[in-house]
Amino acid sequence: MVLQAIQYEPASADSSPTLRILDQLVLPHRTSYVPIRSCEEAHAAIKQMKVRGAPAIAIVAALALAVEVGGAAKTGKLPATPEEVKDSIGQRLDFLKTSRPTAVNLGDAVGKLKIVAKKATLQPGASAESVAQAYVAAAERMLVDDVSDNKAIGEHGARWIEENTAAGRKRKADRSQEIAILTHCNTGSLATAGYGTALGVIRSLRAADMLTRAYCSETRPYNQGSRLTAYELVHDEIPATLITDSMACALMAREGDRLAAIVVGADRVAANGDTANKIGTHSLAVLAGHHGVKFLVAAPRTTIDRDTASGMDIVIEERAPEEVTRIKGPRVTADGKLLLDEGSEMVSTAAVGIDVWNPAFDVTPAELIDGVVTEVGVVEKVDGKFNFDPIFPQP
Ligand code: MRU
Repeated sequence: MVLQAIQYEPASADSSPTLRILDQLVLPHRTSYVPIRSCEEAHAAIKQMKVRGAPAIAIVAALALAVEVGGAAKTGKLPATPEEVKDSIGQRLDFLKTSRPTAVNLGDAVGKLKIVAKKATLQPGASAESVAQAYVAAAERMLVDDVSDNKAIGEHGARWIEENTAAGRKRKADRSQEIAILTHCNTGSLATAGYGTALGVIRSLRAADMLTRAYCSETRPYNQGSRLTAYELVHDEIPATLITDSMACALMAREGDRLAAIVVGADRVAANGDTANKIGTHSLAVLAGHHGVKFLVAAPRTTIDRDTASGMDIVIEERAPEEVTRIKGPRVTADGKLLLDEGSEMVSTAAVGIDVWNPAFDVTPAELIDGVVTEVGVVEKVDGKFNFDPIFPQP
């Protein structure tokens, strides 16, 4: 069974498009899909993190509007003119963009989809229906393109690790050698349209028999590592070990050369390569530098924000204190049995009255990053600087 966090059905002869997302708040213990019928429902699902991960957020937002626009087209409820359809698309996209601030993929998608709608209005013979159709087709394409981009990221990253790390070269020459990767947060099928970015690199390494173990960090406070990445690794039967975030240094000291690289995703890569990603990424990069472990960021080009000069300009989302002071999950009996039928319980893990700071992301300086793995290849620094211009179409 392929893990599919986003289930979208295009319109058919007698039905409007539909969208369902895997509710990541109840994973890994329950598999439950929730319908997304409007931009309001998508906005809430993104804010509450029923869906999360930079590419998945952008795709769900774009498809939620496709459900609205496609449904209106099907039931004859579109605004009268192409201009009005374009304006309403623009307003709905602007609303969706306010759901979470740090990941650039949503802003990038909003910009591109607005251009699609505008271009459609300028076509000879444009109608309200043709503008709606152009929007829906572009949003649907994002779902398909993301999977193929992730597979390409996986291949490029795997090849880079094979060629540029001590563990990679040893394993290539001798299949009895061990090789491990550490990843942080969740960047897999649950954070994208499928396959994943950093987790895509792990999947590609495993498929090429170039990985003997993956390590995933718990990723406090939201536990995307222990709940979601661990779930995907177990699902794919990749030999994997969970560590708490504070064990990363001990792991690097223990593994030495066997740990080929740390591979993480990104929510926004600034023009100079500074990278916003899940809180804790920066500390892993510092540790990697200290231990001589390669540090890779895996992200599609839609995550590279050339309009943001450096990490100083990235807005970091701060989330509710309760994410730090409480934890939720099914109860466990004294003899270790999970009481899955009884739902989840919230327990308090901190002193009442303590102040809490809960930034969802941090910024890893470019100097600590060895390469940015994209769908068109791995960008490395030249004379200590990243230059992403060559991987984008020239104007
Ligand atoms: O707060 P989240 O769970 O949305 O944060 C996710 C991450 O930080 C991921 O590493 C990033 O979005 C890349 S997902 C391919």
